Amino acid sequence: MIAGDAAGESGGPRILLGISGGIAAYKAAELVRRLRAGGATVRVVMTAAAQAFITPLTLQGVSGSPVRTALLDATAEAGMDHIELARWAEQVLVAPATAHLIARLAHGLADDLLTTLLLATAAPVTLAPAMNQQMWLHPATAANIALLQARGVQLVGPEAGEQACGEVGPGRMAEPATIAAALLAGVAPAGQPALDQLARPLQGRRVLLTAGATHEALDPVRFIGNRSSGKMGYALASALAGLGAQVTIVSGPASAPPPPDLSLLRVESALEMHRAVMQRVAACDLFVAVAAVADYRPADPAAVKLKKGAAELELRLVRNPDILGEVAALPRAPFTVGFAAETDDLERHAAAKLAAKRMQMIAANLVGPAAAGAGFSADDNALLVLWRGGRQALPRLPKADLANVLAGLIAARYQVFIDGNDDAGAS
Ligand code: PMT
Repeated sequence: MIAGDAAGESGGPRILLGISGGIAAYKAAELVRRLRAGGATVRVVMTAAAQAFITPLTLQGVSGSPVRTALLDATAEAGMDHIELARWAEQVLVAPATAHLIARLAHGLADDLLTTLLLATAAPVTLAPAMNQQMWLHPATAANIALLQARGVQLVGPEAGEQACGEVGPGRMAEPATIAAALLAGVAPAGQPALDQLARPLQGRRVLLTAGATHEALDPVRFIGNRSSGKMGYALASALAGLGAQVTIVSGPASAPPPPDLSLLRVESALEMHRAVMQRVAACDLFVAVAAVADYRPADPAAVKLKKGAAELELRLVRNPDILGEVAALPRAPFTVGFAAETDDLERHAAAKLAAKRMQMIAANLVGPAAAGAGFSADDNALLVLWRGGRQALPRLPKADLANVLAGLIAARYQVFIDGNDDAGAS
């Protein structure tokens, strides 16, 4: 053992704190202080990059134990080597966990002391991610996080808000008090969200989501419709539920199978979808309109099958209600996310729709020949997401992956909205 290592052990939980190299590393000293105040014994391991933000000496001072920085450290290996340290830990926490650290852990790299320990330990691992919001929303990071969560790694945060780089969005490390409470209690003390809830930012929120197409009857057997399969809407419903939301889908006709575990109401026409939404909207916190709703319907649908006759047949169409527009204009409107399907000039049309209706976000996709393999019915899609004062281009991905990234962005913007910092204004 390193001299003095056993001394100072409090009998509380033994927490190994890994610090990787992000600006939030400066908060690690406060985190150690809070963990120790809660009765934990803390040992600290730092990556090389972490030492550019805070010195090992500071961490040694606050933790009361020597800080380990190198895998091949002859003096330390003679005492508490990395395997012994990995066994010693009852919980391993990495705060801040950078995108690079997360990627290395997801892929099993062991190229420094911290990543080696993370492979060598049998203790539960918790990450407090901290990075630029674009990096957090990048599909590579999203996929790495999903992989690690599937392996049982817990997350605390990240939180959304103003970042050190000047951008606003998700990726800010949770506060030391929040991380310490989550680690020490497993379930946090009164007034603090539990660990699981911190990774489920929409826990307890009610989402009403439209999906699929609408069919506008011409006669009892024919209709005007569109090519929406329901894939995008159903994937987004599942992704939002994965963040803790209670999701109700109002779905028009769709060929894709709906998520089996979510509440689903089937409708046929725009008028039926309008009625179903307006009956339920007062009870939701977020409204997400993914459905491809017909703007017009036949004015006089025939009661019996239309017969072939004259060489030409004229149809008179009347406007359908604008479901999204009506919801966004409600005096107590929910946080409203619209979609825009465009064949050209995506950003201009989407920005015009965002401005015309009082919605908080719009997710725009190219459809038709310009989309080539994305958009209607396809398995992949790409989105340009706009909100007042911000934009994010999401690359072409399978709809399920894209939906996970979009759901994270919606959750982050929703947090800004309820904090009252959204330009579009919280209701
Ligand atoms: O279902 P998939 O095959 O997976 O395809 C997904 C999709 C291409 C249908 C989807 O990603 C998409 O773009 N959905 C919106 C399609 C659409 O109708 O876009 P729009 O630009 O015409 O309408 C703008 C917004 O107003 C949409 O949120 C729409 O739901 C809403 N709207 C439109 C008309 C209307 N009467 N009421 C509405 O609420």
